[in-house]
Amino acid sequence: MATDKKFYVTTPIYYVNDKPHLGHVYTTMVADVVARYHRLYGEQTFFLTGVDEHATKVSDKAAENNMSPKQWADQNAAAFKEVFAKLEMTNNDFVRTSSDLHKIKVTEYVTALMKSGDVYEGEYVGWYDAGQEEYVPETKAKEYEFKSPVNGKPLVKKTEKNYFFKLSAYRDELVSFFEKRDKAGKPFVMPQARKNEILNRIKEAQDVPISRTGSNGWGIPVPGDSEQTIYVWIDALFNYLTYMDSDERRPYWEAGPVHFMAKDILWFHAAIWPALLMALAKCDGYDWVFSENVGKNIVVYSHSYWISASGEKMSKSLGNFLDPAAIDNYVGEFGLDALRYFLAVRGPLGTTDSAFSPDLFADVYNSDLANTFGNSASRVTNMINKYFDGKCPEAAVKVETNINYSHTAEEILGKYIAAGNVLDLSNAADAALSLVRAVDGYIEETSPFKLAKDESKLPEVATILYNCIEALRIASVLLWPYIPDQSEVFWERIGCSEYATTLDNGVGELNKWCHWGQLQPGTDIQKGDALFPRYQTK
Ligand code: MSP
Repeated sequence: MATDKKFYVTTPIYYVNDKPHLGHVYTTMVADVVARYHRLYGEQTFFLTGVDEHATKVSDKAAENNMSPKQWADQNAAAFKEVFAKLEMTNNDFVRTSSDLHKIKVTEYVTALMKSGDVYEGEYVGWYDAGQEEYVPETKAKEYEFKSPVNGKPLVKKTEKNYFFKLSAYRDELVSFFEKRDKAGKPFVMPQARKNEILNRIKEAQDVPISRTGSNGWGIPVPGDSEQTIYVWIDALFNYLTYMDSDERRPYWEAGPVHFMAKDILWFHAAIWPALLMALAKCDGYDWVFSENVGKNIVVYSHSYWISASGEKMSKSLGNFLDPAAIDNYVGEFGLDALRYFLAVRGPLGTTDSAFSPDLFADVYNSDLANTFGNSASRVTNMINKYFDGKCPEAAVKVETNINYSHTAEEILGKYIAAGNVLDLSNAADAALSLVRAVDGYIEETSPFKLAKDESKLPEVATILYNCIEALRIASVLLWPYIPDQSEVFWERIGCSEYATTLDNGVGELNKWCHWGQLQPGTDIQKGDALFPRYQTK
């Protein structure tokens, strides 16, 4: 049943200093699979991604290319939008921090924080990492030998008049927030292994500068001080809220956002962001931004990196990333579903980095998609066409077997939901595939193609093939977030295309669709081309 429950999922907003690459596509794809999972589950889902424009590296890059920052940002924002659309991302909106909507709201929030005293004027002296647009604490700077841990360039000592956010005042509140969430069994930071590092840093957190000078007007001005602009990170974090700050969208925010990002930017999301929300919630008219429900449900999920075969992080600055053209090649060769499946299931969602290897990609494609779902679907639809004229047979007689289908399907649905709920995309997919593997095992066990040689055994063959196609129908529903295109093709072939229409309208009906026995005997079952043709290694 479609429910009133809402779900809100985000990706980082990406810098527009350059074109998109596999790293950006990865996080967006993961969020997209999660969004689809929740839609399938029957929840009204809002999925937000977009771009972060007010960085100095954006205006620098624009100057290098003889363009205004806005022109440069327009061009690259369009490139991100285009890549995401091509990859069939189902984001409900696309953030641009240069939009009026965003700028007006950020100005309002910062004004409120200045009024409450959580943003105040002071002077800052510190070590600045220009590439990351971030100040590095003195102890860390020493540890890094005064070089950027990311690009190795020297850190610069800077003194500037600045507006600060009183992060230090939120240390205790943050620590108890983390504890409360742990106690409730729904940790705020995922995977949990990264929590302690953040907690230790929170315990010593100093106030953070939230403004800068010299940005030549590229940025959101600090309210009441035209010399300064709001630090790009504060501007950027607020995107998650600015785009949801309307009567229509607020209920999604209030469901508690699930924020995806890589480990490089966890500190901003796991410490500064909740502290900003706590501070803003204390201002007049903003208690909703950190309501009890938001506090209970907000999650920051930081995954690891895609690395190159030689072990370095894939990044623009290292020039070792898969760019849109390379991504297109994979899609051309294997199909979009294959890319989506591989990224979601074999990506660095846990605490270890993943090397992107073309051989592994082809192996996973063959083993999980071509040889499993694809092969099973064609075997079963072929037999139904051969023995039953392409009409779904009826399970009228009992067949001796070790497998209790309806029970297996129900158990698998339970595993799928449990894994999906903790954002374990690999295990959720594996649960779905285990149903396909059960079909293969059942065919081996019962040998319908042998039984069919004896006409008197056709009622048994009918039962076997009904069970097979019904299990595959359920598997295709479970696999939809990962392989939506081919699931929908399969639905058309088995007379279930209304699932796609229902999902297009926003919310699916996972539990109903996964109920055993939905497929009506007599329904036309078409065989069609292989859903995932086997890939021959060249
Ligand atoms: N603009 C900031 C984010 C502000 S969010 C309020 C930023 N942008 S970024 O363009 O550098 O994108 C960083 C994000 O891109 C990472 O957090 C991650 O989601 C994704 N990735 C970039 N490179 C990646 C890999 N090599 N591997 C995995 N994810 C990668 O930081």
